[in-house]
Amino acid sequence: MNTTVPPVWIAPSLLSADFARLGQEVRAVEAAGADLLHFDVMDNHYVPNLTAGPLVCAAIRPHAAIPIDVHLMAEPVDALVPVFARAGADLITFHLEASRHVDRTLGTIREHGCKAGLAFNPATPLSLLDYVMDKLDLVLMMSVNPGFGGQAFIEGTLAKLRRARSRIDAHVAAGGQPIRLQVDGGVSTHNIGAIRAAGADTFVAGSAVFGAPDEDLGYRGILQRLRAAATPM
Ligand code: DX5
Ligand code: ZN
Repeated sequence: MNTTVPPVWIAPSLLSADFARLGQEVRAVEAAGADLLHFDVMDNHYVPNLTAGPLVCAAIRPHAAIPIDVHLMAEPVDALVPVFARAGADLITFHLEASRHVDRTLGTIREHGCKAGLAFNPATPLSLLDYVMDKLDLVLMMSVNPGFGGQAFIEGTLAKLRRARSRIDAHVAAGGQPIRLQVDGGVSTHNIGAIRAAGADTFVAGSAVFGAPDEDLGYRGILQRLRAAATPM
């Protein structure tokens, strides 16, 4: 069923960028060919870490022409939706455990003019997907437990991605809207080919982009390597 998989999008996660030079980092990864900017919001409540909020999102907005992909690891979610929409988010993804009313939150995101994404933690079952498929623009499959960059990819995610891909393909084949299948956590040049083969089309990469040991490559070289490794010969 993989013939319908949309083209590869790479979304560098700013979590691993140099926060003291965030505007420059945003311009640099965009110039290097990034498709989306992944902006991780952590609240020290839903996840045990604390990052940046809407002020920082609004501050980077003028530096980016590509979409800002806001990943909310925060609860409750609903009040944050209009705030991040105003701060320039194009896409807002939340974790289903962080919303009491998932269907309503998805609707609220779209009402605010953003694309809506739903995130599944490694231990979260996919079954809920069936009931909200028509309200989704993106499914985010977490391949680490959310909260930190630089963690190891959880291998069981591959089987879960295959199941999500066939649900999405069946939805599209039945006339439904397209839905991106994003993976987040531990993505690198070593595993991106297998992750793509399992059906993902949108790849978040934090430490693989900003913490790459091979600095000579530059962001362009790193993004090219990731894209090439994700693309079957
Ligand atoms: C983790 C975040 C990720 C993180 C990924 O909870 O959602 O976006 O930045 O970092 P890497 O690519 O280093 O695993
Ligand atoms: Zn993320």
